[in-house]
Formats: sequence, C-alpha cells, structure tokens
Amino acid sequence: MSGGEIVRILDQRRLPQEVRYLDCWDASSVADAIRTMAIRGAPAIGVAAALGIALAAKKAQVSHPRPFIKSTEKVCHEMRQTRPTAINLFWAVNRMKRILDQVHIHGVEKTKKKLVKEALRIYEEDIEVNIKIGEVGKKLIKNEDGVLTHCNAGALATAGYGTALGVIYAAWEEGKRFHVFSDETRPQLQGARLTAWELVQKKIPVTVITDNMPGWLMKKGKINLVLVGADRIARNGDTANKIGTYSLAVLSKYHRIPFYVVAPISTLDLTLASGGDISIEERDIQEVTHFRGHPITPKGVRVLNPAFDITPHGLIHAIITENGIIRKPFHKNLGKMFVTPCLPAGRRTPDS
Ligand code: MRU
Repeated sequence: MSGGEIVRILDQRRLPQEVRYLDCWDASSVADAIRTMAIRGAPAIGVAAALGIALAAKKAQVSHPRPFIKSTEKVCHEMRQTRPTAINLFWAVNRMKRILDQVHIHGVEKTKKKLVKEALRIYEEDIEVNIKIGEVGKKLIKNEDGVLTHCNAGALATAGYGTALGVIYAAWEEGKRFHVFSDETRPQLQGARLTAWELVQKKIPVTVITDNMPGWLMKKGKINLVLVGADRIARNGDTANKIGTYSLAVLSKYHRIPFYVVAPISTLDLTLASGGDISIEERDIQEVTHFRGHPITPKGVRVLNPAFDITPHGLIHAIITENGIIRKPFHKNLGKMFVTPCLPAGRRTPDS
C-alpha cells in the first residue's frame, strides 16, 4: 500500500500468478478492494480504511467544517460496512474519526493534513508493532521444529512483516532452521496462494497441505507448534480467526501441541466479554460452489460460507503481542494491557 493522491494496493486476488497493483482514486474503490478481498487480513484492512478516509478528506472540495464532517463521516461509515469481523478496521476508522472530531478546533485544511498524517502513522506503526511481535515470539521456535500456520498472517495481511509470519521471519533471521506447513485455507486459499508465496520469496522451507491434513501430520509428530493470526480477541481470550482455526486448536489440544495466537494489541476488543459476541462474516456461497469461475457443486445445493470461527480461550496456549506473551488467565492478563478500542461517543461496541 502507498498513500498520496491515490491508494495503491497489491491485488491479492491475483497472487501468486500475477503481481498487479490496484490504484484506488477514491475512498469507494478502497472500500471495494476491502470488500472483494483485493486487500485482506485484519491489520491491512484497517490501514487501507484509514488511507481511504485520508484520501477522501484530502480530495474533499469543501471549506466549511459541517459539510466536511458530513462527507468524511459518510466515508467512515462506508469503511465500517465493508467487513464485520476484524476489529482492526473499526479501531483504525475510530482513530481517524477522533482527528475529524477536532475540525472545529483546527479548521478544515489543517484537519485534512492531520488525517493524512494519522493514516500514515497507522501504517508505519503497524510495521513497527509487527517487528516487535516477531522479537517477542521468536524464542518459541526451535531448530528442526515443524511450524503449522493457517490462512495468511504475513506481510500481505498487514502493513508489512506480518504477525504469525513475523514470528517465523524473526526466528529465521536469527539463524534458526525449521520447516513451515501452510494449510491451503479453503475457500480463498490464502495459505496456498499467499503464505506460500511469501515464504518462497524469503527462501523459508514451506510445505502446503490441504485443510484436512493437519491431524494426521500431528499424529506423525511433524508439528511442534501452531501459530495463527487473529481478527478479534474478546476479553476472555476467545479468538476470531479464519475458518478452520478452531479445528486446528482442537487437534492441537488432543496432540498436546502448543497453539499460539499472534496479534497486535489493536486486535483486542475489551468491550466484548467473550467470543460469542463477535460478529462472524458470511461470504458469498460462490466462493465455495465455484473454483476460479468453474462450478464444483451440484446446482441448488445448500452451502455455508462463514469466513471466520471462534477458538475458545481454553484451547489457546498463549497470545503473542508486541507487549509480550500473554498467558492464562486471559481475562485478567488481557485486561492489564489497558487498551480499550477508541469508540466514538455513544457507541457501545466498535461496530454498532
Ligand atoms: O478473510 P481474511 O483473509 O481477511 O482473513 C485473514 C485472517 O483470518 C488472518 O489470520 C487475520 O486477519 C490475521 S492477519 C495478521
């Protein structure tokens, strides 16, 4: 992603076959890129939304605070409607909204500049945070380990470096040698297409496996730890992440393999007591019924396509953040992080 007169996004739908950038000239194109998953991953969509808001603000042809607030709030609303599960999106929009709320103090022109600055700060902070997460988590990987990951929680899913993959990168950069297994991650294949692409580029040994293989590999002793990202973590540690994460956690428990969630503090949602309160995105069933445009199921068959699931806190060994490794009891230790998502006045939950 890059900010300026346009927001330039690496179109992840085309990877790994094609490295093509999408130039978004307005906020609606950015919202569309998030909705259609040209850009995806919790931190990345937060950064994209912030840049989209900054772009709209910069281009707004108004000089009075009232119409400026109205048009920019409309864009914030549009961003909030794109995808419901990842808290990072709402967290980033709310940061932008707090700048907007000061327009009466600073005036329109200065607020435009402040919004651009804030979006770029969100972008840069995310990279810094991921590097810290890598430093915190790298000690968990040992030489010769088999590390399993799901979906893509790498550079592509963030402003850079990644969360779960950031831990892998940091351990590798330190000289440790191990092997990564990447679940293909049906139906969008983020593991097969994106995680594998990132790891191949970094020359880190990776084996892509289908989503129904992890249990067998665990049984055969090939997996020593599991590292996954997160889209939203409730106060008690229940974690929303890509569909299939829950099954991996159950399998890990059975095989006594440590299961780690890796996420920035901005993924915590302390307003939610438990995972039951997290809204799970349901995506178009065509993602399941079709493969690259070709039908693979009988016409008219019933299909489910939840994009995420909730892993109960009891199955999570620890949560790796930029502020350290959070261990159980999560309801006590997550609270100590003292981070509440910045909610605009009158909002009870980040997405209400
Ligand atoms: O639907 P996606 O591809 O946006 O889902 C992404 C995930 O579930 C990631 O694991 C999560 O966002 C963490 S990314 C650092």
